[in-house]
Amino acid sequence: MSKPIRPAEVGRSAAGAAVSVRGIGKTFVVSGRPDHVALSDISFDVAPGEFVSIIGPSGCGKSTLLYIVGGFIAPSSGEVLTSGKPVRGPGPDRGPVFQEFALFPWKTVLGNVMYGPRQQGMGKRAAQARARELLSLVHLSRFESYYPRELSGGMKQRVAIARTLAYDPSTLLMDEPFGSLDAYTRTVMQNELLAIWERDRKTVLFVTHAVEEAVFLSDRVIMMSRSPGRVSESIAIDLPRPRVRDALLLNSRYQHLVLRIETLMRQAHAEDQR
Ligand SMILES: Nc1ncnc2c1ncn2[C@@H]1O[C@H](COP(=O)(O)OP(=O)(O)OP(=O)(O)O)[C@@H](O)[C@H]1O
Ligand SMILES: [Mg+2]
Repeated sequence: MSKPIRPAEVGRSAAGAAVSVRGIGKTFVVSGRPDHVALSDISFDVAPGEFVSIIGPSGCGKSTLLYIVGGFIAPSSGEVLTSGKPVRGPGPDRGPVFQEFALFPWKTVLGNVMYGPRQQGMGKRAAQARARELLSLVHLSRFESYYPRELSGGMKQRVAIARTLAYDPSTLLMDEPFGSLDAYTRTVMQNELLAIWERDRKTVLFVTHAVEEAVFLSDRVIMMSRSPGRVSESIAIDLPRPRVRDALLLNSRYQHLVLRIETLMRQAHAEDQR
């Protein structure tokens, strides 16, 4: 059962937030071990169309938080609202891109990407056209008749992104979606994701370990600390859009933001070691 929301928390929530995380706590109870408090009193709002990254040390509960927003696990306390409605489970409004979410091994790349639109009742030809458009976006057109087992890890990840985009969720929940890609493909995918975001203005919650990636992509970076996982900082990324990597690398504001967040991360790690 979720604990009731205190009036003060209701007051803090911005009207019309796409995602409102209110006083979320999560305690894992594992037999034979002391209860583990993974998340404690996490609250923040994400505006419709906002791109928010979550960054923090390994084990601070980033994936757990994303699973809770996705409705895949229930919080021990607090509540998540999407467009004002309490999350009771997964829904087509929230598209997960999680590393553990396997593709259907018996379907081709095209079949995997068509699956969502077909489930939503789209005709076969229209679903095929949509899937092909998305496969072209993630540079996998040549591989549409391959099976997942015939692809590299990074290619599978790109199929997973296309598959989620295909059913057009208003919010994307992305857990280190580019973590397994090589450096070049990673920058290509960052640019593609931004192009999609500029076009469709989806709300994005994006978990990453990479400070530069978070700054490059986001409107705001939420930093978490560990033991238990809490929000430690919320940093507005006041850089112009559209973002162009080469220009940003020379932009002193960009450099300042990267340095500031890296310093905060280092401090968080040092505190963890104590
Ligand atoms: N199902 C579970 N049962 C018990 N403990 C869990 C479970 N899932 C996560 N935890 C614990 O909760 C904490 C947060 O885990 P989580 O995977 O959310 O961290 P993370 O920030 O995503 O880490 P990483 O950056 O390494 O992916 C960890 O201490 C982990 O051991
Ligand atoms: Mg994780």
